Amino acid sequence: MSDSPASPPTPYERMGGDETVRALVDRFYHLMDTLPEARDIRRLHAEDLSGARDKLFDFLSGWLGGPQRYVEKYGHPRLRARHMPFPIGTRERDQWMLCMDRAMRDVGLPASLQRELHQAFYRVADFMRNQPE
Ligand code: HEM
Repeated sequence: MSDSPASPPTPYERMGGDETVRALVDRFYHLMDTLPEARDIRRLHAEDLSGARDKLFDFLSGWLGGPQRYVEKYGHPRLRARHMPFPIGTRERDQWMLCMDRAMRDVGLPASLQRELHQAFYRVADFMRNQPE
């Protein structure tokens, strides 16, 4: 038995691992694909969302504290640099957050986890902005 203190469960564990991360990502892109309020960010994406879906799953798996799939496959995420080809302002940030907040609710994440992840997602989404307002 290890005598080191047990580490607190990660968001990945608290939400139920791969199955829930996959459901979250599927729901997120379904909402992006269908909500009229998300049409500006939908337009920035390829017609076929399956590549983006797989990459976001790989990324979130590690970012939430689970297996570091994205880093193993593609190296350091450099997320801000990778988003530079797309014009992202407050409107795009807010559309992304709308889809993610609704996806978290729709897959039934515990309310406390939704609140924590909202803050954490918001920091990343806000950091992606690359347009003067
Ligand atoms: C702020 C608004 C955002 C917009 C408008 C946006 C848009 C995009 C677009 C257009 C792509 C390319 C998808 C493709 O290959 O077809 C992309 C890729 C990606 N996005 Fe975002 N994104 C945003 C925020 C975020 C946030 C907050 C995260 C993480 C929490 C994220 C994670 C990723 C990842 C991991 C990729 C794949 C990068 C790669 O390896 O090519 N994005 N995003």
